[in-house]
Amino acid sequence: MDREAALAIVHEHVQSPNLRKHMLAVEAATRWYAARLDQDVELWGLAGLLHDFDWERHPTLEDHPAKGAPILRQHGCPEPVVQAILAHNTEGTGVERSAPLDFALLACDEVTGLITATALVRPSKDLREVPLKSVRKRWKEKAFAAGVDREHVERATRDFSEQVYGGRLALWDHVGNVLEAMKGIAAELELDGRLAQPSD
Ligand SMILES: [Fe+2]
Ligand SMILES: [Fe+2]
Repeated sequence: MDREAALAIVHEHVQSPNLRKHMLAVEAATRWYAARLDQDVELWGLAGLLHDFDWERHPTLEDHPAKGAPILRQHGCPEPVVQAILAHNTEGTGVERSAPLDFALLACDEVTGLITATALVRPSKDLREVPLKSVRKRWKEKAFAAGVDREHVERATRDFSEQVYGGRLALWDHVGNVLEAMKGIAAELELDGRLAQPSD
């Protein structure tokens, strides 16, 4: 399975533009880490790009992504990718994280939502000019992007750090990395200023 085939699966199963963009954001982040960890960039990218592909069909944590996994296997999705996707919801699937990719995927998942929300409240709607300190400020506002479970992000980042970085990846370094990764695809995320209200 290559990226094009994965994208076709996403387009077939996901109609929500926001959910598509969420998966593109996580893909950018997992690719970013793969490149720096000397891992398979294409493989890691597939996990990010596909991880929520079945959410519209299986919108409960019992079914997602457990019921999506067989569909991925039918499409020839590599097993390490399927495993990582299953392990992003251990409570629903019973699959624990074990490979570096599994830890990376979960650590990158939710935090992309906070970064996107931070960009969208700026008049410019341009992710490329969002400094890390703005994300940090929003993090402290509990009502802001309240769906992003800060404790969950902290735990997932700590686990990723311990398993893959010998405990040396700090939370705000990680958020900065995901921010940098997402800036690289600002156009695909439509966070390149095109959503700004014209000012006359
Ligand atoms: Fe998910
Ligand atoms: Fe997700």
